[in-house]
Parts: sequence; structure tokens; C-alpha cells
Amino acid sequence: MPSSSLLPTDSSVLLTTAGMQQFKRYFTGELDPMKDFGSKNVTSIQKAFRTSDIDEVGDETHLTFFEMLGHFSFGDYFKKETINWTYEILTEIFKIPVDRISATVFEGDDIIPFDEESFEAWSKLLPPTQVKKGIRTDNVWGPTGAEGPCGACNEVYVDDVEVATLVFMEYYCHLDKKLTKLTQKGVDVGWGFERIVTKIQYKNNIFETDLFEPLIKILPENIDIRVQRIMADHARASAFLISDGVTPSNKDQGYVLRRLMRRLIVHAHMSDVETEVIRELLLVVVNHYSVYYPNLNSETILTEFNKENDKFQKTFKNGLKELEKLTTVDGASAFKLFESFGLPFEIIKEVGGDKVSTLTREEFEAERKRHQEISRAGVEKKFGGHGIKEGDLTAENSEEMKKVTRLHTATHIIVASLQKVLGQKLPQAGADITVERLRFDFTFPRKVTPKELKQAEDIANEIVDKDLPVTCKEMDLQEALDSGASAFFKLKYPPRVKVYTVGDESDPFSHELCGGPHVTHTGEIGHITITKEESVSGGNRRIRAVVD
Ligand code: SER
Repeated sequence: MPSSSLLPTDSSVLLTTAGMQQFKRYFTGELDPMKDFGSKNVTSIQKAFRTSDIDEVGDETHLTFFEMLGHFSFGDYFKKETINWTYEILTEIFKIPVDRISATVFEGDDIIPFDEESFEAWSKLLPPTQVKKGIRTDNVWGPTGAEGPCGACNEVYVDDVEVATLVFMEYYCHLDKKLTKLTQKGVDVGWGFERIVTKIQYKNNIFETDLFEPLIKILPENIDIRVQRIMADHARASAFLISDGVTPSNKDQGYVLRRLMRRLIVHAHMSDVETEVIRELLLVVVNHYSVYYPNLNSETILTEFNKENDKFQKTFKNGLKELEKLTTVDGASAFKLFESFGLPFEIIKEVGGDKVSTLTREEFEAERKRHQEISRAGVEKKFGGHGIKEGDLTAENSEEMKKVTRLHTATHIIVASLQKVLGQKLPQAGADITVERLRFDFTFPRKVTPKELKQAEDIANEIVDKDLPVTCKEMDLQEALDSGASAFFKLKYPPRVKVYTVGDESDPFSHELCGGPHVTHTGEIGHITITKEESVSGGNRRIRAVVD
């Protein structure tokens, strides 16, 4: 299976952190792998991003963005097979001597029993001192802060580096942390690609492998080695995030990207490296990886970087001066440096020296959250207590609300245009609208060709040019369905629903059940550009578009 996007369809995570995410519903038995893949077993090379490791980057094994080699079984092979294959690939294919390999298995507690089967399987392969029992935090894998399949896992080490995790899915972990048994057993194996490459290439750390060498080579040798590694990691991660549709902002995925780019910019500045070198790093990432990830687009990456750079260059040097003046930095003053000068937490922490020794990320994030709430409350007041979360949309302020509303109506119009071009109804599988772009998924068995996309885009823009009215009517659900309104998103609808119509009611261009809000005339939307079409999990396609 191809890698899914770093931007998950599953909104329980901000970014894709593991290969198993796109397969969640195959583990639970909701979806049938035989039907969708023709097999109960699949493999993938998944793009993954872990914000939780951001402070670790710079050491020998941690990255924000990495590739995870995965193999998965949904009710087919289980522990013994998985462990034997893991051993086989390590010793016979990767030629790692047995004495450098070790594994940990779950010791058991009052909820999940001791993983005897894994213990025995490993004990047949490795000497007793190399098979260890471990505690829940290390040897039970499951979703963090969300719900999903979980189970006991084995950690596999070469020397002291964890190279793979073998998860044996047997339970479903609910939001309240309660476990229930899954109806089938599953396997979720993830190998850290960069880590195993380090071992195969006899290197001391990830950054010495041929995956990073072309990046490190560009940076002057006299820069602190940790900074070199951070720059290499962040450049690679930024390129991949941008190519999957993330743009810098103060929210969600955009906030992550913004911090990576700004850290690159400040480090370049402090190490006397020209900004041009960052662009070079980004281009090397594209050259190196675009064979495998054709969606890496140097033009988009550079455009986003340049935009962020132009903005940030104007403020950050003053921010650094301001930081110099402070004697101690707490959560509130750190947030002020972010708010007024754009300095990300990581930079404040890195360059603040003794002044920041007690400053924690939690403190900073708590302050950021407090300010977001204050500004949201202000906006709500302006909106007459109506709230900034309207219908399907959320925005930080009224400007943003206007923009997402335009994108929202554009979504309806593109869906209707595509249905015209493809000559069929397209069952929608979810949508997500940010201030920058719209995105929606729909079920369709093949790629939509560039020609078809262009046709749909042209139809959509004709509708914009015609400045058709967009009207809303409230009616009973059945009446709405009878009137031919599309009911998307497999939602449970309330008995009274809103129906939005684009165009004349006797012959509507689009007619959808929807919470709104929408523009009142299509002309308000502006020009629509479809930016991307790609495949996502479960036989769905995904379209992104922007308006300007
Ligand atoms: N899901 C496990 C992990 O992310 C193994 O793939 O480590």
C-alpha cells in the first residue's frame, strides 16, 4: 500500500505518526482487507512525523519526519511468524550478528497478561540475556490521547538502538482507557527506516547515513553538530509537510511547520549561514526523494518558505535583542516573544541560556492556549454571542471566518462540478477546511485525470462568474432527502435540517444538506483552483483547492 499523507483523514491525530493509522478500521474489523486489498496482509513505507520527538532531534537517533517500514496482518499471521521473520531479516538479509540483537516483551499486569508466546518465540532465537521483560509504558502500544486498536508489543534493538516495534493488536482502547477485545488478532510492525539504515551502513548515527549526508554536506563544517542535525531534519520535514498541503500558521499542523521553518531561519542566522543555504537544503531533499515521493514540489516548497522567511526576517532579530534584555524568561514572557516577534519556543529555549532554565514547554503552551481563548472570546463578543464556530466551520476571527466560508461554498461547487464531469454521484468521505485551503475525500475507484480536474475547475469557475444565489432552507429530513438533496458524510442527521442550494431552486446546480455557513452569492468566492488530487486510504480520493 502506498504511504498515506502526513495529514491524516483520522482527526484523532494531528499528523500521521505511524504506518498503522491508515489501517485502523481493518484492525477493528470494520473494513474488509480482502475486499479492498485482496489480502489479509499488507506492507507499506509510511511517511511519519512525531512532534513528541522535536526536542530530541540533534542526538543520534531522533527525527521529526521519518519513514516507517511496516507490515500488517488483519486476522492472519501472528506472533511466531512475525518474530521469526524479524529475526530472519535482521540476521540473514541485514547481516546483523546475533549478539547485537535484543528484544523486550511485555511482563504483564492486571489488565494485559505476560506475553508468553513472544517470550518463547524470541527465546528460541536469542540467548536468554538478550530477551527481556518490559513494563507497560514500553511494551504496550496504543493510541495516545485517542481511541484505537492496541496491544502488547515487542521492541527490537540492534546495539542500544530500537529499530522496530512489533505490535500484536488484540484490544480496542477506548477514550476512557478501557480495553475491549477485538474480534480478530492483528499485527502492526514498524521499522524505523533511518535507524536500520544506520546499522546496515555501519554508521554511528542517523545523520552519517547516505540519507542525510547530502544535506549535512551543504552546511559549513564549523557549525555545531547538533545545529547541523536540526537543520537537516527540519529542512527535510518542512519539505514533506508542505508537499502534503501544510502551510505555516499558528494552528495545528501549520504551527508545527512554522516552528520548523523559523528554527531553520534563526539557526542559519546565528551560524552566519546565508538563507540561500536553507533553500539549497530544501532542493536537495526534493532531488533526493522525488523519485519515491513524486508529490515533492520544489516550487511550492520554496514559495512557502520564502513567504514565511519574508515575514519572519522582519521581526526575529528584534526578538533576539529583546530576549537578550530579559533576565529571566517565564511562560508569559516567552509567549510574548512569540506573539510580538514570532520566536518559537524551541529557539527561546535554545538561545536563552540560564534565563530559560526553568521555562517548560507546558508553561509556554498553557500561555498560548490562554491567549487563544481570550482572543476567541473577543471574537465571539463581536459576533453577538453567536460564536465563531458556525455549522461545520471554525475560525480564529471574523476575517478567517469569511475566508473559510468562501472555501466552504467552493467545496459544494467543486463536488457538483466533479459529479457532472465524472457522470455519477460521488459519496463523500469527509472534508476539512482551513483558512488556506479546502480538502475533501470521496469514494471513486480510480485517479481523476488532470483533464477531468481541469474540466471540473472550469465548470466551478463558470458558476462563480455567474454569481448565482446561494440559499438556505430549513426542512424535515425526509422532505430534504425527497427533494434530492445530497446527504453527505454518512452522518446521523437531526429531524430538522438545513439544505443549501446553489443556483435556481427549480434547477439547482448543487443541493446539499449542510450546517453552513455559506456565501450568499457565488461571485463572493473568487477564483477557484484545484491544487491536488491524490489517493487516500480505503479506496478514497482526496482533492484540495484554494480560492483567491
Ligand atoms: N505502531 C507501531 C509504532 O508506531 C509499530 O508500527 O511504533
